[in-house]
Amino acid sequence: MRLLVTGGAGFIGSNLIRYLLNETNAEVFNVDKLSFPGSVWTMQDFKDSPRYSFAQIDICEASAIRQVVNDFAPDAIVHLAAESHVDRSIDSPSAFIHSNIVGTYTLLEVAREYWRSLPLDRRHMFRFHHTSTDEVFGSLEPSDPPFSETTPYAPHSPYSASKASADHVVRAWHHTYGLPVTISNCSNNYGPYQFPEKLIPLMILAALKGKPLPVYGTGQNLRDWLYVEDHVRALYLIVRKGKTGASYNIGGGCEKTNIEVVNMLCDLLDELFPNARNVPHRNLIEFVTDRPGHDLRYAMSTEMIRKALNWQPEESFPTGLRKTVRWYTENLAWCERVTSGSYHGERLGLG
Ligand SMILES: NC(=O)c1ccc[n+]([C@@H]2O[C@H](COP(=O)([O-])OP(=O)(O)OC[C@H]3O[C@@H](n4cnc5c(N)ncnc54)[C@H](O)[C@@H]3O)[C@@H](O)[C@H]2O)c1
Repeated sequence: MRLLVTGGAGFIGSNLIRYLLNETNAEVFNVDKLSFPGSVWTMQDFKDSPRYSFAQIDICEASAIRQVVNDFAPDAIVHLAAESHVDRSIDSPSAFIHSNIVGTYTLLEVAREYWRSLPLDRRHMFRFHHTSTDEVFGSLEPSDPPFSETTPYAPHSPYSASKASADHVVRAWHHTYGLPVTISNCSNNYGPYQFPEKLIPLMILAALKGKPLPVYGTGQNLRDWLYVEDHVRALYLIVRKGKTGASYNIGGGCEKTNIEVVNMLCDLLDELFPNARNVPHRNLIEFVTDRPGHDLRYAMSTEMIRKALNWQPEESFPTGLRKTVRWYTENLAWCERVTSGSYHGERLGLG
């Protein structure tokens, strides 16, 4: 397969590309604008693969995208490019509206033009996969059943509203123009190469430096955690075998409060670095003013993808978290490079 991946310099996109190059024969073209210039280091280990190409392009630039699509002639487009950090979306929503909504629309239009130009057999095979989030469904109370594929959308943050808008636009391009799309809504991912502005890497790096570990509110917000390699396996399955027009929920079936996650990280660091001067690392935890509109709980029912595509997560949270902590402690040079001058990096003295 020839796969055009957008956002492949990011956390999930780069893990997807690693999986495609290591586990399949796919040829990959990665389009990413490099929102964080340091992300070139995320592509370091696969940049020289003969089955890999890269162009630094903003998905909002139709002519540049059109040229790549026509030259590369993909069998599928796997769309992950997005502004992805809720905190940043609250401080400056404009980039989220632009990249996540206008960018997705631009990509859909280029894909539609390309798809219509294909010979019938290739046209039949073509897929546009859009990668979205559980946050589009809003927030659950502790006793509510988990989100299903038919849960009505109720996004609360500029980030989740922009992703929800994009999901609607993708679905409309399927219903109106027949474009063969699939959509996935996934829960919180964790694992190697996650940009250190997100909870898990942020906490690991701050703890290693003996900085405070800022936990919003009382840390009772519940998230469902999925190891990133389980997510990318699901994405590849959907691209190959998903039903056109369908949405699939993806999740780890592993609900944890934020404070549980941070406590687990602190305990792992105590175990790995028993002589560190900050043991016990839990002493570094500081509760800080909650962010506005902070959703209490997300949880996913993954029955549909389990039944339809025989997918299930393989990594457990304790083993995945241990792998993740080890990866960050062994890849501090990558962390320094990608966080240089970044949002949370500077605040925590990481960049
Ligand atoms: N991380 C999660 O837990 C999670 C969960 C569910 C869904 N998702 C979705 O998965 C996708 C990838 O998330 P991630 O965590 O890897 O994010 P990320 O921020 O690590 O990576 C996103 C990449 O997209 C690129 N990008 C942003 N705007 C672009 C534009 N206009 N043109 C080209 N490239 C652009 C960035 O440069 C970055 O490399 C996103 O669509 C996100 O909404 C993420």
